[in-house]
Amino acid sequence: MRYRVSIVTIAVVALCGYSLRCSAQQLRADNIDEVVKAMTLEEKCHLVLGCGMHFNDDAKFPGTAGSTYAIPRLGIPATYCADSQQGLRMSATRAWDHNDYYPTDFVASMTLASTWDREAAFRVGQGIGNEVREFGLDWILSPAMNLIRNPLCGRNHEYYSEDPYLSGTIAAGYVRGVQSEGTAACPKHFVANNQETNRNNNISQVSQRALREIYLRAFEIMVKESDPWTIMTSYNKLNGPYALQNRDLLTTIVRDEWGWKGMYVSDWNAGDDAVAAMLAGNDMLQPGQDKQYQAIFEAAQNGTLPVEVLDANVKRILEYVVKTHNFKGYKYDNNPDLKAHAQTVREVGGEGIVLLSNNGILPLTGKRVALFGCTSYDWISGGSGFGGTSVGHYTVSLVEGLRAADYEVYKPLIGVYTQHLAAEEKRLFPTGRPPFSITPPARADEKQFTAEELHAAVEGSDVAIISLGRKSGEAADRSEADFYLKEGEKQLIKAVSDAYHAKGKKVVALLDICSPIDVASWQGQVDAVVCTWQGGQESGFAVADVLSGSVNPSGKLPMTFPVNYGDAYADKNFPANVDDKTLGAMFMWGYDKDSAPKERQPQKDIDFTNYEEDIYVGYRYFDSFGKPVAYPFGFGLSYTTFSYTDAACSVDGDTYTVSVKVTNTGSRAGRNVVELFVAAPNSKKLNKPVKELRNYAKTRLLQPGESQTVTMKVKTSDLASFNEKASAWKTDAGRYDFLICSSASQVEAKVSANVKSWTHKVHNVMQPNVKLQLLRR
Ligand code: BGC
Repeated sequence: MRYRVSIVTIAVVALCGYSLRCSAQQLRADNIDEVVKAMTLEEKCHLVLGCGMHFNDDAKFPGTAGSTYAIPRLGIPATYCADSQQGLRMSATRAWDHNDYYPTDFVASMTLASTWDREAAFRVGQGIGNEVREFGLDWILSPAMNLIRNPLCGRNHEYYSEDPYLSGTIAAGYVRGVQSEGTAACPKHFVANNQETNRNNNISQVSQRALREIYLRAFEIMVKESDPWTIMTSYNKLNGPYALQNRDLLTTIVRDEWGWKGMYVSDWNAGDDAVAAMLAGNDMLQPGQDKQYQAIFEAAQNGTLPVEVLDANVKRILEYVVKTHNFKGYKYDNNPDLKAHAQTVREVGGEGIVLLSNNGILPLTGKRVALFGCTSYDWISGGSGFGGTSVGHYTVSLVEGLRAADYEVYKPLIGVYTQHLAAEEKRLFPTGRPPFSITPPARADEKQFTAEELHAAVEGSDVAIISLGRKSGEAADRSEADFYLKEGEKQLIKAVSDAYHAKGKKVVALLDICSPIDVASWQGQVDAVVCTWQGGQESGFAVADVLSGSVNPSGKLPMTFPVNYGDAYADKNFPANVDDKTLGAMFMWGYDKDSAPKERQPQKDIDFTNYEEDIYVGYRYFDSFGKPVAYPFGFGLSYTTFSYTDAACSVDGDTYTVSVKVTNTGSRAGRNVVELFVAAPNSKKLNKPVKELRNYAKTRLLQPGESQTVTMKVKTSDLASFNEKASAWKTDAGRYDFLICSSASQVEAKVSANVKSWTHKVHNVMQPNVKLQLLRR
């Protein structure tokens, strides 16, 4: 309807004002104000809305998320956007076109965060930004960077870390990479969108302090380090109103306090009040609905939406438009350097692999490997939903990767698993798989083996590799049961390990997972555990690179692996066991408050989620409350060893520079991540975490015996906590410990410095509208 109105309007304008139109302003970077003045109210109302989703074959870029409204008479072109943080998501084939369009399937965000390498994040962002441009689009709807508050959130594979500094800096590297190609980045989902269950309607109830120190902090670091051209607001409500309809959040904090000048876009069909979103400063609503057009138009006419507010939104949209490839008339050729990007995927994929345990078996010396576990033959390269790249793109399998690295893969198991997976496919999808599912499709149950089959495999191989897989996706959270191994997985690990160990042979477990799972209960049965995460299209190569030792692992966990689900305080307030997995998918139909369930009482963790753990998310909780973990935040082994010497701290004004000499003391070349945590004096009295990550650095590849001195800066303001009573950031004066760590549980060196007090007052906004029972130390 909106589009019909627009055609009529344009036709009328065309007939009545031909000469006027010929002389109309044509958009340039330096005449945006004049163009805004030259726009009709109708045009403004169209521009603040998207133009529908581009799923169909007849779209210019089929399978992409949408576009912006074109106004040819003013020289305003359409611009085009697509998901995702793992690569450009669009249909690989097009009607009446014999070419195919396969962008690169880069690595999952969790893999990228595990590199602890800002440069790797830049490379991935640059590759994606380049493909967006070369395939004709303008704007990538990523990075997704919500905090990992709970291991079961369905979109964790799209997110980076439980720590705001790591999340913010990796996201910043990615954004800088995307935008270095002239492509717009769109960090999302702003903010406190940490569950998928009832995601369009849930209220996150978060203290001002946790918001400022944890959830907003990740975005603040990213905004200040990378200045994204756009930000996507989230589906959820936050302390009352929808995030996208909250002016205190979008304008007071981000624009007024942080100084960000870019364009906000809503998540797709988010919110329930288009006028409130405009008033809040949410410039564009995607993919755009007729009723939103009507509401904005009427409000602008009757003055409830002041014209200056609408104009400000329009102006920010045009400021984005003039930077885009389509505005600049870029001639794309659908021919990015896919080979170079595949190499990036392999290298970054390898760098993001985390070696969790190694009882002398890795790197593999035996050349004959037997692969167990369905995932070994059904490798997962990333999650499902709009966070994944095009369906049908290739993934280098584990078998292919190992063979390319000269391993002999035990053949009988290939045949057995091929049959088993085919039978499971029929059982799970009797009428065939749905062509696209945003929630993860069911995975095969494990096959069990007879003693004879196992005996033959032990004889025919030097080592067993068991792969465990977990796939997550949009619109549904994982359930608690998914954290633990299934009975079939447990039986398989036991049977294979017993059989191999009986003959003095070893067993390696690979975790091809989207988020933490239980490892504590079974890892003693195997000789090495490698968390491969999900490494995109080249994963088979990247895993083989690490297993063979041609790449020495240097990845570190971006989140804690708990012993049990429920150990973290945040788990008490999370929908871990909600059966109705459809609750997250309301957006598919365009969320509308009239269609919300009316008669039921608001339910905890579904309709509202109280963030009672407050600032104690992830290691901040485990560390400060002395709780055991399976693997701490920041953990990861190498095939070599490193020493940390000559730690020092120098002070220059408000900046502390910590340096340490890292030496490769082992016999293999390797890179090492140095993690800088800071412990404040009197942390318990001040209700502060025991220590917090304030910076990190990664060495270059160090040869055996080689050293590198790394330096990391911390400002007095980085050490501040948010004081709710004073509505201010405050750093207390005192002697602070700068802890150089190899994980949150392992301090390698320590230096201390006196810090002067510092205070910075901000607006007293975003209070929760309920009383929260917050955890305190
Ligand atoms: C997701 C966004 C995505 C958008 C457009 C939404 O469902 O939450 O992350 O960018 O769809 O596809």
